Amino acid sequence: MYSIAIDGPAGAGKSTIAKKIAKQMGFVYVDTGAMSRAMALFFIRQGIDGHDRETIASLCPSIRVSLSYDEEGRQQVFLNGENVTPYIRDEEVGQMASVTSAIPEVRAALLDLQRNMALTSDILMDGRDIGTHVLPDASLKIYLTASPSVRAKRRYDELCEKGVSCDLAQIEQDIIKRDEQDMGREIAPLRQAEDAVLLDSSDMTIEEVVEAVLEEFHKKY
Ligand code: DC
Repeated sequence: MYSIAIDGPAGAGKSTIAKKIAKQMGFVYVDTGAMSRAMALFFIRQGIDGHDRETIASLCPSIRVSLSYDEEGRQQVFLNGENVTPYIRDEEVGQMASVTSAIPEVRAALLDLQRNMALTSDILMDGRDIGTHVLPDASLKIYLTASPSVRAKRRYDELCEKGVSCDLAQIEQDIIKRDEQDMGREIAPLRQAEDAVLLDSSDMTIEEVVEAVLEEFHKKY
């Protein structure tokens, strides 16, 4: 089984790149951010403060996150049996996921599921700690980043295209805050694994990044 781990900060283009590569290579794409977001949605719905570690830890055993794939191979994420895929993309959910993912019980609740997926299929998994913690023996590790201003502008363009009104400066601030939270936490912080290939996509097109990842893979296999 092959596994490709792509880690990096919010908005670096991980999921766009990962989906394309997984499709080309016939690998299963696992978006671990969606799993963290499903957990976060549970806490938001319960009205829990993301910093209330004790309550969150005590609730983890009652939360079940699972994944399935639709006919087109798109990942669907389930929270206690409910398909919550349409409800997890808001910035509020992303921010909550960034805060609650710093809690060990939240990470532990997802770890086995993530690791087990790599045992049964060739996978491409993206997240924050895939190369460093979830799949330390991944066949290939990529650390994909881009400058905060480029990431903010991409997100801004994406929202404008969807007709959502937004503020570029606010988006950049949110991105910087998320970087600080994801890189600064004690457990499984976002960082480049020692054996990961660094790709800075600030001045690269999506196709160039896809090509670069495929090249790295074929160098090894
Ligand atoms: O990639 P994303 O924006 O969907 O992730 C949302 C948050 O979830 C991210 O800010 C931190 C957390 N996360 C994590 O801690 N570990 C992962 N493997 C994936 C996401």
